[in-house]
Amino acid sequence: MSVVVLDFGSQYTRLIARRLRELAAFSLVMPGTSSLEGILGANPEAIILSGGPRSVFESSSPRPDRRLFDLDVPILGICYGMHLLVQQAGGAVRPVPHRSYGRSVLSTQTGFLFDGIPERSEVWMSHGDAVTELAASWRVIASSTENPIVAIASPDNRRVGVQFHPEVVHTPHGQRLLANFLDHAGVARTWSPEHALDRAIADVREATAGSRTLLAVSGGVDSSALALLLVRAGIDHAAVFVDHGLLRHGERVEVERSLTGLGVSLHVVDARDRFFLALSGITDPEAKRKAIGREFIDVFREKARTMGTFRFLAQGTLYPDVIESAGSTSASAANIKSHHNVGGLPEELGFELLEPFRLLFKDEVREIAGLLGLPDSIRLRHPFPGPGLAIRVLGEASPEMVAILRRADDVFIRCLREWALYDDVWQALATLTPLRSVGVAGDDRRYGLVLGLRAVTSVDGMTADWAKLPHDFLDDVAQKITRQVPEIGRVVYDITSKPPATIEWE
Ligand code: XMP
Repeated sequence: MSVVVLDFGSQYTRLIARRLRELAAFSLVMPGTSSLEGILGANPEAIILSGGPRSVFESSSPRPDRRLFDLDVPILGICYGMHLLVQQAGGAVRPVPHRSYGRSVLSTQTGFLFDGIPERSEVWMSHGDAVTELAASWRVIASSTENPIVAIASPDNRRVGVQFHPEVVHTPHGQRLLANFLDHAGVARTWSPEHALDRAIADVREATAGSRTLLAVSGGVDSSALALLLVRAGIDHAAVFVDHGLLRHGERVEVERSLTGLGVSLHVVDARDRFFLALSGITDPEAKRKAIGREFIDVFREKARTMGTFRFLAQGTLYPDVIESAGSTSASAANIKSHHNVGGLPEELGFELLEPFRLLFKDEVREIAGLLGLPDSIRLRHPFPGPGLAIRVLGEASPEMVAILRRADDVFIRCLREWALYDDVWQALATLTPLRSVGVAGDDRRYGLVLGLRAVTSVDGMTADWAKLPHDFLDDVAQKITRQVPEIGRVVYDITSKPPATIEWE
């Protein structure tokens, strides 16, 4: 049983699914235009229609299968999803003169959807169209100062719609509203990390049926948790950890010690020289990523050949990647950066893929990792890109520049931990530029490198805000870095959000 979230291209669709999981309801995201048969295959107890960038009165805007509306399954429409409900029932939706974006105050008039929510509360809006007329017997259950029709219900309450976004944190009572909808729909609230872990163990046992499995471990939470899952499930496995020389300070030792200690059959390949050779003379960011990706596949393939035959390759693919590759109804995103993982390996090596986390979100994997005994130092670690420090040295990633960056990065991360700020940010990183700037040290003129620090808050890395770290903290970091890493003469803090910037500088 599940709650199916139909995606009409909203940037918040995944967030809806995550919020439902936080409420212990198993949720799946499917393209908004999925066939009824596909949707029914997921056994929906309730359906949510997401928002989206289009207008329902455009002839080419995405529509759900018409038969969906005849199902006796409760439906909640959010923003564009609400407009679909209204239009289908015979009401009207029109453009508003100015796009309504940001906070708004809601007055709830009546209703089950608002149980436990104050009569006046803040909500987050982002829409260019609004409902101007309801079908017969439908009723308004909330309005705002700017808009008289902000939440609606059908006569039998089996169809409800909200113009605002209950899934975002800027709607403080949004989670309560979603919980009310689930209760009203009678959705089973049984989803938990323990449940997900049991299911993943059962799945890998059944899928592998005693065959050998290979996996690549990067030191991040996903691949480490995956290795531990194979141990817990009793799968005959070998884990390969490629040290490409682009890791953070102490990372290799920590991963080796933790995973081996927990029973993982870990094979470390020291390929540092090869990677630096492959990177020499390359300055273009995409070319660097590609060179690393290629080298990784070669190293991994060579190592795998020495270890006998494997039927499966296990990968820590997460649900957001699955949703992405299933495609949404929005125009597909431009390839902003070619993210490097071990994609491409299965076809090359003739493996079958094993992806036990393919229906899980990152925080669910973090919880599972805890149940499997992964130490918090790895479990709660900030995300770290596959190409490692190479994309944090702007221009050519020479061994010397990477070594300078590694020391500076270590100071930054240690300071975050000392100030107990590490867990307050989603990701923190240092980037070494090839720029030099003038400074003084004692009586000497210095001409040192410029280092950029970046810390962001985010939910899933798709959008991010720069973290408002205390000035005293930044001061402490800058002093320590310039003292302990004399090659660096100047430290700057990145105050750009994503968008327009990305999190990494390359
Ligand atoms: P951007 O820079 O695209 O990063 O805003 C979003 C998140 O993805 C990480 N990142 C990568 N992860 N391989 C990875 O495994 C990559 O090539 C890669 N590039 C960026 C980045 O650190 C951030 O968490």
